[in-house]
Amino acid sequence: MAEHTNPVARAVDKVIDAVTDRDPSGEIPGRPGVEPPSLAEPVEPRGPLPPKPDQRGPDAFTATGQPSGETAAARAQGGEFLTTATGTRLPDTDHSLKAGVRGPVLLRDHHLREKITHFDHERIPERVVHARGAAAHGVFRAYGTAATVTRAAFLAKNVETPVFVRFSTVLGSRGSADTVRDTRGFATKFYTSEGIFDLVGNNIPVFFIQDAIKFPDVIHAGKPHPDREIPQAQSAHDTFWDFVSLHTEATHHTIWNMSDRGIPRSFRMMEGFGVHTFRLVAEDGGTVLVKFHWKPKAGVHSLVWEEAQLLGGVDPDFHRRDLADAIEAGAFPEWELGVQMFPDTQDQTYEGIDLLDSTKIVPEELAPVQPVGLMTLNANPVNFFAETEQVAFHTGHLVPGIDVTDDPLLAGRMFSYLDTQISRLGGPNFDQLPINRPHAPVNDMLRDGMHQTAVHAGVAPYRPNSLDGGCPFHAPDGYVEVPFPVAAGPRGRLAPASYDDHFSQPRLFWLSLSPVEKEHVIAAYTFELSKVFEQTIKERQLQVLARIDPVLCGEVAAGLGLPVPEGVPGADPAPSPALSQVGRTWPVAGRVIGIVAGPDADAVRTIRQAVLDGGMVPLVIAPTGGVLPGTGEPMTVQRTFAAARSVEFDAILVAGAPAPGADATGARDAKAGLPGPVDPRVTLLLSEAYRHAKPLGGWGDAEDAFAAAGIPPGAPGVTSGDDPAAVLGQVITSLGGHRVWERFPSALA
Ligand code: HEM
Repeated sequence: MAEHTNPVARAVDKVIDAVTDRDPSGEIPGRPGVEPPSLAEPVEPRGPLPPKPDQRGPDAFTATGQPSGETAAARAQGGEFLTTATGTRLPDTDHSLKAGVRGPVLLRDHHLREKITHFDHERIPERVVHARGAAAHGVFRAYGTAATVTRAAFLAKNVETPVFVRFSTVLGSRGSADTVRDTRGFATKFYTSEGIFDLVGNNIPVFFIQDAIKFPDVIHAGKPHPDREIPQAQSAHDTFWDFVSLHTEATHHTIWNMSDRGIPRSFRMMEGFGVHTFRLVAEDGGTVLVKFHWKPKAGVHSLVWEEAQLLGGVDPDFHRRDLADAIEAGAFPEWELGVQMFPDTQDQTYEGIDLLDSTKIVPEELAPVQPVGLMTLNANPVNFFAETEQVAFHTGHLVPGIDVTDDPLLAGRMFSYLDTQISRLGGPNFDQLPINRPHAPVNDMLRDGMHQTAVHAGVAPYRPNSLDGGCPFHAPDGYVEVPFPVAAGPRGRLAPASYDDHFSQPRLFWLSLSPVEKEHVIAAYTFELSKVFEQTIKERQLQVLARIDPVLCGEVAAGLGLPVPEGVPGADPAPSPALSQVGRTWPVAGRVIGIVAGPDADAVRTIRQAVLDGGMVPLVIAPTGGVLPGTGEPMTVQRTFAAARSVEFDAILVAGAPAPGADATGARDAKAGLPGPVDPRVTLLLSEAYRHAKPLGGWGDAEDAFAAAGIPPGAPGVTSGDDPAAVLGQVITSLGGHRVWERFPSALA
């Protein structure tokens, strides 16, 4: 770090030392291309530009899983000049071939027809669920701690395995907003040396249903109403609450959705869960049952509901932008993979909890999560469609050492994914798409089909054969399903008696939350049910809540203006503190800090650099765009007062109270409709950030801006002073707790 003479810069260095050990990246993420564009249209022919440094495509393997040695450039478009799909150069793509200047257009124009025809077929069906998603490449490095319980090669000590992870929402269409209240998918493809292992999980550890045969029901209920096709990507409607109020095994998943877990701050700040219980198999054949957990190094954090709603309009791509920007800025998201381990007993229960019931968790206090490796996401995809859209996960993609259990929810998934992908990806050969190719040799006897890209040799894709020398041979060390004894019984559409307990764990969850988290759950149920048209459905759901907790039920009933129904919750289980997100301190890397520029541009420059050096993303906000005055490197404005909205930022710094800008008129910008001594867009920015419990800091006459925003002097998490570096240090400390929770104390116990 450079030695500074400026006292602000020196103090800033101390702040940086305290918060980071990273090298500064020096760039605001988000540049669309690899190099800045020229003002005039380029005329000098050149080859295609490479991807940006933060981007990486699928690793180079053939359709049959062998290293191809192919470079990224060899897979991308090539040459300097425009061609047809078959490589013939073209001098013009702007005019159809016509007979005479005013037409008609000629049918023989192959370039016109090829261009339009291909465009006509650019879309493929979106996923029937989890249609909206974003993904990244990375690496998983095993600690070796699982090596005694599983023979899986990728879990042996220090083995590094490439991964591709896709995060998603469940209900919305491909173009829906990121920040809706919903479960998030967390699907990881491990390209192991023994074939692909997919861990297809969610950010919520339980599911709505215990048996996959109900999956179409819960999804039909959650999707938009089939007549008007509204609402999009939301559960706040009659069919969803109709179903979950009647189908009370959904109660546990639903209360997680109504909690802050339903509106994560970022994909980077979500836990992931394999949900089902899996079976690990050791080298000696010994087995244990496990539940998989992903623990984010950045902590588990959420939006507040108003923020999530505003973001739906202000930045519908908030989560995918956040993921891509963090990776581009070098703040690589990391998760530890861990397992809860249980003895593999015949009854497949642990401490009385049925391990085959996906509506139940095992509290971490009963079975601690034991870390087995670290995943780092370190590259953005080069092409969304080729990678994020075409990736195909499957719970059946297993490797030796990992087996599934008889969870009836998992059984249906083992069928569903392959089935849906055949229609979504247009045939049976989607495993050969670059993003889906294993990093292990493929020698199957599957042949032909649409879009076959392997060129299989030989004449005998059958066994036994002698014509191809007997190939392929059975693998003595291959995947063997564990011969777990099946307890025989009468055939029937049955479920164990323990599956009837739908309320003890929702109560466990409720009792484990901090007061502010309980407030959010009350608010979420009240909001969602207030959007339900039918009174009887609200009353029925209140009956469900009465069986979770009287306070929860009473507060929601009060909000809905309905009587509190009779209902007795079960006994009080011991709370599980691990279920709460509040009360710890977390790293701040990748967090977005808005800096409202003030008269002293040099102080802004120093603080901006400090934020950048601290691994965060500083966005300078000023009355107009362009470059701030002052000495040193030109400092670009990222947001004008008219374009900035508080929801983009995790914390805001104010370098003095700005007077209203020239465009601060209600006629031009509705946000400027309430005139005052401080620019009204800035007061809105601050008042929103204040009520979203975000840290605020300022120097110079920033206190005037806080006062104009109605922020009480000395409010928690609001720092002002003469020393910008000290203010920044305080803001970063507050940010470590994610939000200033003490700003709005709750009366709930
Ligand atoms: C524990 C319960 C479940 C979890 C954690 C889960 C998780 C996921 C995730 C993460 C995805 C998105 C994969 C991606 O990013 O491409 C997905 C997609 C999907 N899931 Fe599930 N799911 C569950 C239950 C089910 C069930 C019971 C079924 C059907 C019986 C099902 C059917 C599907 C289908 C059809 C897709 C779309 C797959 C595609 O088009 O590639 N899921 N699920």
